[in-house]
Amino acid sequence: MTLASQNDQAQDLIRRFLQQTRGFDISGYSPSFVSRSIRKRTGRTGCSSPLQYVALLRRDDDEVNELISALSINVTDFFRDDDAFRALSTLVLRPLVSQKVEQGWSALRVWSAGCATGQETYTVAMCVAEELRRLRTDSALVVRIVGTDLSSKALAYAQRGTYTPEQVKGVPRRLLAEYFTRTESGYEILPSIRRDVKFSEGNLLNRPDRKFFDLVVCRNVVIYFSRPMHDRVITNFHAALKAGGYLMLGRTETLLGRPRQMFDLVDHENRIFRKLAAGAAEEAVQTPPSAIRGVSDRADLRFS
Ligand SMILES: C[S@@+](CC[C@H](N)C(=O)[O-])C[C@H]1O[C@@H](n2cnc3c(N)ncnc32)[C@H](O)[C@@H]1O
Repeated sequence: MTLASQNDQAQDLIRRFLQQTRGFDISGYSPSFVSRSIRKRTGRTGCSSPLQYVALLRRDDDEVNELISALSINVTDFFRDDDAFRALSTLVLRPLVSQKVEQGWSALRVWSAGCATGQETYTVAMCVAEELRRLRTDSALVVRIVGTDLSSKALAYAQRGTYTPEQVKGVPRRLLAEYFTRTESGYEILPSIRRDVKFSEGNLLNRPDRKFFDLVVCRNVVIYFSRPMHDRVITNFHAALKAGGYLMLGRTETLLGRPRQMFDLVDHENRIFRKLAAGAAEEAVQTPPSAIRGVSDRADLRFS
């Protein structure tokens, strides 16, 4: 077999393996990017051929995590599209936070889905902290923000909460002074923000076991998904949200077809939507897990 055909065969086997075992779909990714990533991992692991690397993947779960990290497009930033976070603060967090504080409700719960190395999750946490500051309240509102991702490596980075000067360039200067401390090599998020944030591994295709979120932020993730995966993930978000809860997608993403009927539009430019009551649309759009190979219907996302 020529090296080129070995590469093609390995790529195909790996695509199916990742979908079946982790529900991670790379079929929409550029073949040259996938092939480069596989070649890199083949070399790093000392395998002599791509097919030998496939065999390694079948017995080594850690290597599967490494490959997923290499293939996950983990690009992210603090305040990515800063206008979008301004809109999120004004249109969503401000009313939510004041309503909860006024009514003495116990908790504000946010899910940052596909959070990569945590910048988005901490951005939301800083926006919430700013809204609480604006209210000048000593309310004991409990804030719980969970960041989830498929990539355990990205999550380990997020968990550390330390970033280089280059990585914090997007943070407005005042917020940098307010919510970070300077370390020898960069900046560390303050414990007052970290206290509100947790990270947890999870596949967005799996049914979430919590249905109490006020807001789901999922930016620059569903753009990589096929249509059945898009529909399933949006249906999961709908299920995870409380009645009237909000969903924010990335600027280039949108709700398509039936999932669109499950949400009201709040802000088109910044892709902010609001949950409509569950109904026939939700039932109709629910893609059975068996339709996506390798995806179980077990509950995911453990967060209290
Ligand atoms: C481009 S990053 C987006 C990061 C962040 N949301 C932002 O907009 O800056 C996409 C992230 O989605 C994660 N991801 C892709 N498919 C996923 C899935 N099925 N379940 C959970 N996370 C997934 C990837 O690992 C990656 O970290």
